[in-house]
Amino acid sequence: MDAILIRGGGPLRGKIQVSGAKNAALPILCATLLSDGASRLRNVPALRDIETTAALLRFLGRDVTVTAPEVHVAGGSDVRPEAPYELVKQMRASVLVLGPLVARFGRAKVSLPGGCQIGARPIDQHLKGLEALGCSIRLERGYVIAEGPENGGRLRGSEVYFDIPTVTGTENLMMAAALAKGRTTLVNAAREPEVEELGRVLNKMGAEVDGAGTDVIHVKGSERGKLVPFDHAIIPDRIEAGTYMVAAAIAEGSDVVLEGAQVSDLEALIVKMRAAGVEVTSEGQCLRVCRRGPLRAVNVTTAPHPGFPTDMQAQFLVLMCLARGESVITETIFENRFQHVPELQRMGAAIALRGRTAVVQGVEALNGASVMATDLRASASLVIAGLVASGETEVRRVYHIDRGYERIVEKLSGVGARIERVRGAEA
Ligand code: EPU
Repeated sequence: MDAILIRGGGPLRGKIQVSGAKNAALPILCATLLSDGASRLRNVPALRDIETTAALLRFLGRDVTVTAPEVHVAGGSDVRPEAPYELVKQMRASVLVLGPLVARFGRAKVSLPGGCQIGARPIDQHLKGLEALGCSIRLERGYVIAEGPENGGRLRGSEVYFDIPTVTGTENLMMAAALAKGRTTLVNAAREPEVEELGRVLNKMGAEVDGAGTDVIHVKGSERGKLVPFDHAIIPDRIEAGTYMVAAAIAEGSDVVLEGAQVSDLEALIVKMRAAGVEVTSEGQCLRVCRRGPLRAVNVTTAPHPGFPTDMQAQFLVLMCLARGESVITETIFENRFQHVPELQRMGAAIALRGRTAVVQGVEALNGASVMATDLRASASLVIAGLVASGETEVRRVYHIDRGYERIVEKLSGVGARIERVRGAEA
C-alpha cells in the first residue's frame, strides 16, 4: 500500500489549480441513466470514486469512457437495474443510482451501503421519499428492492418532507421526480452547491427543476419517460479548494493562489479563516490565501450548507492545533468524525474529545510521526499537519486520499511542499 511522506518545513508559495467537484460529478454521472444516447461531462477529477462510478455504470450496461478531465457515457435502455454489494461497499454514493433506475426502468435492486467509518449513515430518508412517489420498497438479504406502482409503473409526483436535509437523498429524489408523473415538491431539501449543480444538469436534460440550492425544490416530471443527453462542465471542488486554503494557512509566510475556486461556495470557511487571522482575498476566479501573523483560536460548529461544512472540519481542526488559545470544534453531521484526533495527538496536538466536541489547546509545534486515518478528509488533515510538523510524517492508507484529491502530491509540491508518494509502504 502506498504512503505519503512529508518533510515539514517552510511556507508554501505559488498557484494551485482547483479540480472539478467529486460530489457534483458523482450524481451527475448517475443522472445519465435518465437518458439514452451520449453525454459528455467535462472538468471531471481523476479520482478513484469516479472510476468506481464508471465501473457501476458499466455493470448496469452503459458504455463509459474515462479520459480525465472528460467522461463520456453512452447507452440505450438495455440496462440491468442492479447495483451489487461489491461496488456499493467501495463507495456509498453508489446509492445514487437507486432513484434514476426505479424512475426510468420501474425497478431497482441496490445493495444497502452498510455502516461507514464516519457514522451509521442510514438511507431511510431516500427510501421514505421514494415511497412518497409511489415506490414499493422491500429489504431483502442486504439489498433494497424498489418497484414503481402497479408492478413497475411510472412514479407519481408528490410532496416529500425530509426529516433532516440529506445531500444524496435530495439528489436521488430530484432524479426520480424528473421522470415521475406530475409535480414533486421536496421540502427541507439539502442546499449544497452540488445539489444546485445537479438541478442545472437536469434542466439541461429537459427536466423542469426549480429551487435547487434552496430548501424547497419543485420538480415537474417529464412527460416523455426519459430525458435527453447533455454536455456539462462540472463546478470546482469547494472542499478541495478549502483543503488547500487550510494547507496554505498552516505555515507562517505562506502566500498561495487557488485558481478556479468558487468563492461564493466557500463563505463559511472564509469567515472562519479570517477570524483565525488568515488573509483571504478573492481576485476574479482566484482566491489568495496569505498567512503573515500568528493564528487565533476560533470555535467552529459544522452544519448543513450554507453552514460550516463537515467535510472541512478535520482540516480546520489542524489549523486550530497551532492557534493561540483554546478552540471548540463541534461536529453535528456525523457521529464519528474525529478519527484524525488520536493521530494528531500522537503528533503532539493538545485535544480533548468530549462526545461530538473537540476542545483544542493550541501548541507551539507538531512533531512528525507515522499516522493513518480511515476516511478521506481525516487523511487530508494529517497531510496538512505533516506540512508543518518537525521532521518526517508518513501518512499511510493513501487510498482514502485517492478517492477525493486529484494529484495532491503534485499540487502541494508545486507550491514548495516537500512531499512524495512512496510506493508499497507498510499498511
Ligand atoms: N441521514 C439519515 N438518513 C438518510 C440520509 C442521511 O439519517 O436517509 C443523516 C446522515 O447519517 C448524516 C446526515 O443525515 O448524519 C447528513 O448526511 P447526508 O445524507 O447529507 O450525507 P451524504 O449525502 O451521504 C454527502 C457527501 C459527503 C458529505 C455529506 C454532508 C456525497 C457523495 N457525499 O454525503 O461527502 O460529508 O454529504 O455534507 O455527496 C466526502 O466527500 O468526504 C463526504 C463524506
